[in-house]
Parts: sequence; structure tokens; C-alpha cells
Amino acid sequence: MKTYLITGAAGFIGSNYLKYVLRLYKNIKVIVLDELTYAGNLGTIKENIQDKRVNFEKGNIKDPVLVKELISKYNIDYIVNFAAESHVDRSIENPQIFLETNILGTQNLMECAKAAWRTGEDKNGYPIYKEGVKFLQISTDEVYGSLAKDFEEPQNLEIPSEIAGKIASDRKLQTYGKEFFTEKTSLDPRSPYSASKAGADFIVLAYAETYKMPVNITRCSNNYGPFHFPEKLIPLMIKNVLEGKALPVYGDGKNVRDWLYVEDHCKAIDIVLRNGKAGEIYNVGGFNEEQNIRIVKLVIDIIKELTGKNAEYKNILKTKWENINYNLITYVQDRLGHDRRYAIDPTKIVNELGWYPETKFEDGIRKTIIWYLDNQKWVEEVISGDYQKYYEKMY
Ligand code: NAD
Ligand code: DAU
Repeated sequence: MKTYLITGAAGFIGSNYLKYVLRLYKNIKVIVLDELTYAGNLGTIKENIQDKRVNFEKGNIKDPVLVKELISKYNIDYIVNFAAESHVDRSIENPQIFLETNILGTQNLMECAKAAWRTGEDKNGYPIYKEGVKFLQISTDEVYGSLAKDFEEPQNLEIPSEIAGKIASDRKLQTYGKEFFTEKTSLDPRSPYSASKAGADFIVLAYAETYKMPVNITRCSNNYGPFHFPEKLIPLMIKNVLEGKALPVYGDGKNVRDWLYVEDHCKAIDIVLRNGKAGEIYNVGGFNEEQNIRIVKLVIDIIKELTGKNAEYKNILKTKWENINYNLITYVQDRLGHDRRYAIDPTKIVNELGWYPETKFEDGIRKTIIWYLDNQKWVEEVISGDYQKYYEKMY
């Protein structure tokens, strides 16, 4: 039986991952460590923390006493570190907390794990660790910087031959450029957020090299799906369309992101944790680049269609159905230092670990919008912060 310490599991990807492993494995124990910042909502995982296999701890990954105690007391095998300040716009406003949580928090987790997992040392003085332990750092494609956009329109290419046989035969690679990020691409972070994530990656790799700790890093592209906090592009646009509010598109709206359905990311994390070779980095991407303005238009089209067909959904609208159209799109000032294009080459994880992005974007985005229509109460809760305050009193 494996015991997990999952940090940041009250947030978007962490909560999806928690639900995923609880569904997948009967015989596990999970300790959730989350500070419940504005982005963490205990309501998201309220059913999961009632599960006998789960213990919830409200606390900061930077807290050495708490983290050391948790790793020792629960005899942790796997640490999966999702906890982070994750929003680029906020990092532009207030960089410091990003360095504190993302760099110092990660370093504290590693330092505590190093001490708690140590069982002795070899003849060269290198620590020896408890059998089967692993530290997995959830990183981002943003550490690689920004790529050029070579095409104005999306190109649907054949999947490169070395991996084509490993993924569904009807999949294509949708791209706007010729270059991709591989694990060997030099790091070139350009925002305080991505610089802090790159700093964390370097610390993880330094601990792996210096103290021979068993680690992996996954670098993933933009996730979308259920429980995504409505400050990020897709959930914000869904919320604003339903309310008939302006849809703020930064700059010319032609920046490109590589979109991955969150459950596909969770599968990748689990595969890397269990089968990834210690010390390795794995890029995780969706073969699915899209420019922001086309995403925003798609969100409008799908909501228009779904609310037009279903009276219950139509009732959710805080505007007239007729008002749902492209006139809601409002071009606003560009994000400072806005990265133009991200594009992941996931060849390594496909070839070495057999993972591939299963969900097609047109299916994933529809599922996501339906989830938001069915879960308006969740949106109200995370926005109001009342639920968060209520749970803070409880813990
Ligand atoms: P999120 O902002 O939705 O959730 C972050 C969670 O971490 C929240 O529950 C928050 O309460 C918790 N947290 C923040 N600071 C903490 C601290 N000091 N101690 C303990 N808990 C703390 O983030 P997300 O979008 O789910 O991203 C999760 C991870 O994945 C992050 O490390 C992010 O960099 C990475 N990532 C995200 C994406 C994406 O598209 N969202 C893509 C690639 C990588
Ligand atoms: O690439 C992975 C990264 O994806 C993660 O590491 C980050 O944690 C995650 O937040 C995400 O970062 P982005 O900056 O790409 O995501 P965001 O949803 O903030 O923005 C996506 C694109 O949409 C980006 O080009 C900026 C643009 N945008 C965003 C918002 C919130 C808008 O045009 N309008 C908006 O209102």
C-alpha cells in the first residue's frame, strides 16, 4: 500500500488528481496538505476528505515542523507537489508570494523529505532512502519561455511517425508553429510566475543530484476541465458569457496555448509517479494548440447552443439569450510580457511510458462547459469566499 502526500489538492489540478487516484486505487492512503488560499476550496474535495483513506491538513508547504511531522507520522511514500501560486497575472501584480510559495515551499518539502526518508548513507557519504519513495514536482511548460508563431491559421499535421503508432489513429497534431518544447529545451522563464516555477525545478534537480533523492518533474501545458478557478481564461469566459459580461481578450487575442484536458494530465502524473525513471523530466501536452480568440468564440458558440436547447440551462443565464454573441468580446490591454506561443513535444512520455492525450479538445471543452452549467453552485462558492471562511472555522 502506498501513502501519498498531495499538496495543493484543494486547487484545480490537485483536486482532480485526488479524485482520480481515489477512483483508481482502493488500497491507498492520502494526506492532503493545503493552505486554502483564495485558490483552494475545501468544498471541492468535501466528499473526498470524508473518505477513510484521506486525511486533510490545513497548512503551508513552507512550514518545516508540520511537513516533517506529516511525512514521518504517516510514513509517506509519494509526495506530489501541486501547491503553488499559479496565476501569471497575479504574479505580475505581486511577485513575492510566488517566490515564497513556489521556490521556498518546494525547497522545504524536499528538505523535510530528505530528512524523513533517510535510512543511512553509502560509502561515499550519499544518503540512502526508504525503498520506493518518490518526489514529483508538478511544473509547467512556461519555464521554457515563448515560441514563435509561424502560421496564422491552425495546421492539422500528422502525428510524428515515431509516436503515431502509440496514440489513437484519428488524432492529428494541431499547431501554429514549427518549433516545440522538448525536455532538452533551455529554460527561459519570462514572468515572475514562470521564473518561480523554474527556480523550483532547479531546486528539485539540485536535490536529486546532490543528495541523490528520487525525483521526477512533469512540465505540462495549459489544463482545462472541472473545478478550474474562474480567474483563468476558459472558466472566466464561461462565467462572463453566462452573466452577459464583457469577455476581456488580451492584446490581439492571437496568443497560442496548448490545451490538455485535466484528467489526461492526472493520468500522466500517475504514470510518471509509478513508472518514471528517477531523475527524469517528462513534458506533458495535448497536441492541441489554439489561439485565445478562437477559444473564446468556441465558448460563446457552445453556450449559445446548449442554453438554446435546454430550458434549465437557459434559466442560468443572467442576460437575454439573444445577447450571447461575439459582441461580448472586448479587446483589452495586453498582459505585460505576454508569451506568444507554448507548444509541448510529448514524445518522451508517449514513447517511454505509453501515455498520450486521450481527450479531443472538441469533446473536452463541451464536457467542461456542461460541468460548469451543472455546477453553478460551486462557482458561486469559490467566488464568494464564504465557503472558504466557513471551512477555515472548521479546521
Ligand atoms: P491552483 O491555483 O488552482 O491551486 C493551487 C492550490 O495550492 C490551492 O489549493 C492553494 O490553496 C494551494 N496552495 C497555495 N499556496 C500554498 C502553500 N503555501 N501551502 C499549501 N498549499 C498552498 O493551481 P492549479 O492550476 O491546480 O495548478 C497546480 C500546479 O500545477 C501548480 O504547481 C501549477 O504551477 C502547475 N501547472 C498548472 C497548469 C494549469 O494549466 N493550471 C499547467 C501546468 C502546471
Ligand atoms: O502553460 C501552463 C500554464 O497555464 C500554467 O503553468 C499556469 O499555472 C496556468 O495559469 C496557465 O497560464 P496561462 O497564463 O497560459 O493561463 P491563463 O488562463 O491565465 O491565460 C491563457 C491565455 O489567455 C493567455 O494567453 C492570456 C489570455 N487571457 C487570459 C485571461 C485570464 C485573456 O486573453 N484574457 C483573460 O481574461
